[in-house]
Amino acid sequence: MDRTLTLRRPDDWHLHLRDGAMLRAVLPHSAAHFARAIVMPNLVPPVTTMAAALAYRARILEALPPGADFTPLMTLYLTEDSDPDDIARAHDQGAAVAVKLYPAGATTNSHSGVRDFARIQPVLDRMARIGMPLLVHGEVTDPDIDIFDREAVFIDRVLAPLRARTPGLRVVMEHVTTREAVDYVREGGLDLAATVTTHHLIVNRNAMFAGGIRPHYYCLPVAKREGHRRALLGAATSGHPSFFLGTDSAPHPDAAKIAPCGCAGIFSAPVTLACLAHVFEEAGSLGQLESFASLNGPAFHRLPPNPATITLVRDAAQPHPGTITTGDGPVTVFDPGFPLRWRVAEA
Ligand code: NCD
Ligand code: ZN
Repeated sequence: MDRTLTLRRPDDWHLHLRDGAMLRAVLPHSAAHFARAIVMPNLVPPVTTMAAALAYRARILEALPPGADFTPLMTLYLTEDSDPDDIARAHDQGAAVAVKLYPAGATTNSHSGVRDFARIQPVLDRMARIGMPLLVHGEVTDPDIDIFDREAVFIDRVLAPLRARTPGLRVVMEHVTTREAVDYVREGGLDLAATVTTHHLIVNRNAMFAGGIRPHYYCLPVAKREGHRRALLGAATSGHPSFFLGTDSAPHPDAAKIAPCGCAGIFSAPVTLACLAHVFEEAGSLGQLESFASLNGPAFHRLPPNPATITLVRDAAQPHPGTITTGDGPVTVFDPGFPLRWRVAEA
């Protein structure tokens, strides 16, 4: 039976667009479906200042396909040398909507991130005063902590103390992957939210090892056990206002993924909405997809929902795109392991 679903145009609250040839190849896939996206600053070198954010935004706007209706929302990469005045000015002038905290070494291009959290306290205090959200990659980097425990340990060791010493700081725990994070955010009040990726709603950690090693299911934070995936699905489909979509679509050339030390990151932008409609439908919660993808994020970020709508259509299964072509070589698109029956109708 054919079905359609119309919702406010969605936003992506955590997206990697990269730069140069990769930016030009991946941007049209997000701009086709999403009205706005929070753009991650983990370029090389990272986007640490207002000037760098403005320059990066200009490069994104220049790379947009003609007629695209897409607004990049920029972020600043927090370092131990970040200047509170520059950050406040960027917020005030709309050059950046949020600041991104990477614990040093936690993920791709995070080596300029934070080691000594005491050194960022003046920035955090300033952000709390002006209401600028902190977006957190929530994993400890201690090699003695098992990789599957790093998110849960981060909450106790880093995030809870950081929030306790910075009253009023607005925090988004990004790409949550555990029951512990879901529970922490659910009870965390209005100043705390979480983004959930498409792939973490669909795969658990077995996907990385199904019949052999599968680099295209490797990302950080790494997918956890099935029980955690179910907790994420429960949160995303609940309509709870603290949970919203951040795809963490993170393209790497296949050559960098299929390697002895392959990069973390899953590229899902072209199929994200098709995948989400599928999982929300399977969960009997299609009616909550709009809250998750289009309403809860703007409400947290104090922005209006998008006035335009998109329509999703359920019909015959579409062929999976496989890879996209980029100037840096092919990039594999996330394969959810089920047929893609939903698609975004042409406007
Ligand atoms: C991201 C990337 O490739 O930039 N990788 C990932 O596995 N998610 C970085 C990040 O968001 O952690
Ligand atoms: Zn990311």
